[in-house]
Amino acid sequence: MAKKPLNIGMVGYGFMGRAHSNAYRRVGNFFDLDYEPVLTAACGRNKKAVKAFADTWGYESTETDWRELVKRDDIDAIDICVPNDLHVDIAIAAAKAGKMVLCEKPIARDAREGARMVKAIEKAGVANMVWYNYRWVPAVTLIKQIVAEGRLGKIFHYRANFLQDWTISPDVPQGGAGTWRLDVEAAGSGVTGDLIAHCVDTALWINGGIRDLTAMTETFVKKRKHADTGKMRAVGIDDAAAVMAHFKNGSLGLFESTRYARGHKALYTLEINGEHGSFMWDLHDLNRVEWFDHSVEGRLRGWTSILVTDGEHPYLGKWWVPGLTLGYEHSFVHAVADFLKGLQTGKPASPTFREALETTKVCDAILKSGETGRWVTLK
Ligand SMILES: NC(=O)c1ccc[n+]([C@@H]2O[C@H](COP(=O)([O-])OP(=O)(O)OC[C@H]3O[C@@H](n4cnc5c(N)ncnc54)[C@H](O)[C@@H]3O)[C@@H](O)[C@H]2O)c1
Repeated sequence: MAKKPLNIGMVGYGFMGRAHSNAYRRVGNFFDLDYEPVLTAACGRNKKAVKAFADTWGYESTETDWRELVKRDDIDAIDICVPNDLHVDIAIAAAKAGKMVLCEKPIARDAREGARMVKAIEKAGVANMVWYNYRWVPAVTLIKQIVAEGRLGKIFHYRANFLQDWTISPDVPQGGAGTWRLDVEAAGSGVTGDLIAHCVDTALWINGGIRDLTAMTETFVKKRKHADTGKMRAVGIDDAAAVMAHFKNGSLGLFESTRYARGHKALYTLEINGEHGSFMWDLHDLNRVEWFDHSVEGRLRGWTSILVTDGEHPYLGKWWVPGLTLGYEHSFVHAVADFLKGLQTGKPASPTFREALETTKVCDAILKSGETGRWVTLK
């Protein structure tokens, strides 16, 4: 049967522009779906650079202004892969133009912007999804499935860390390509929106909502040169954050993120402890989960290391044979597969903008608590 084309308009050609383009190109080779993404147009401000990107990935055309891209009749879905401050205007314009909207995380700089986006998208009734890609790492999806089956019993603890070390030098600028993450205007926040947001999204998905929290945030380097002006400017982002939370199910949450943990490049780890069992997962060994099952007879009870590569594991039946592993990029392929399947079945892929807004609300609460030193209750 001929596949239905889904014409993609990609905004941004950096790290995520590449990760998503790869996913659109691969998905149809491995997942049998009614829809086939077509790389219709790529958009970036620099004409030469966007053309080079389009040639590398096979985009049919280019634009240098996202407003022109959004207006085009031959685009079905806008994919937002630009710094966080641009998400709100692009998403709202795309929704108003009747386009499906896919957006990188965090949806916005704060929940106020996020709520405007949700409103516009839901008013337009367009399909939408936010790329919290760790949900689509099969080992993480497996944890979600087993917890949802109730196999851990009552949950007591959820803890997650996301540790990096790339901004320790005071010479790293704020603003500009890649380092826009250090500019509060562009990013909205530091590690909270960038890293803890991933931990929180996975946590809300696996362990349910957060009731209240208290946080410590720190900015270790107070002034940095701005890449646009060359002038020193106060740093407005959080370099590190540590959070204590109560989940609505009564369990306790601990989250820590920093870009100052010397030696750690992207160490995302999570652990969940329940009455009958526990799980641990580590991004550096992303195909593996550690599982402890208390129902096993005492003599043989212990941590079990599961290599998540079997056909019966989530998404794995579509890839190679048992024992052969997947990488970071596959999480994005799975995201596209779920999005396309959602179009087919009418059951939207998760997280939608509305779901991703919950994570941004938690991020806002972390920043507020970091500022005031008080517990914040989530509404
Ligand atoms: N899911 C993840 O794990 C993950 C990882 C990295 C980044 N992100 C998110 O993805 C988004 C993009 O981050 P990135 O790492 O790809 O950034 P990047 O700096 O690598 O790329 C950003 C791109 O946006 C382009 N851009 C900037 N202003 C623009 C404009 N006005 N019009 C068109 N293009 C413009 C830049 O030229 C560049 O191509 C951010 O929201 C970020 O938080 C998510």
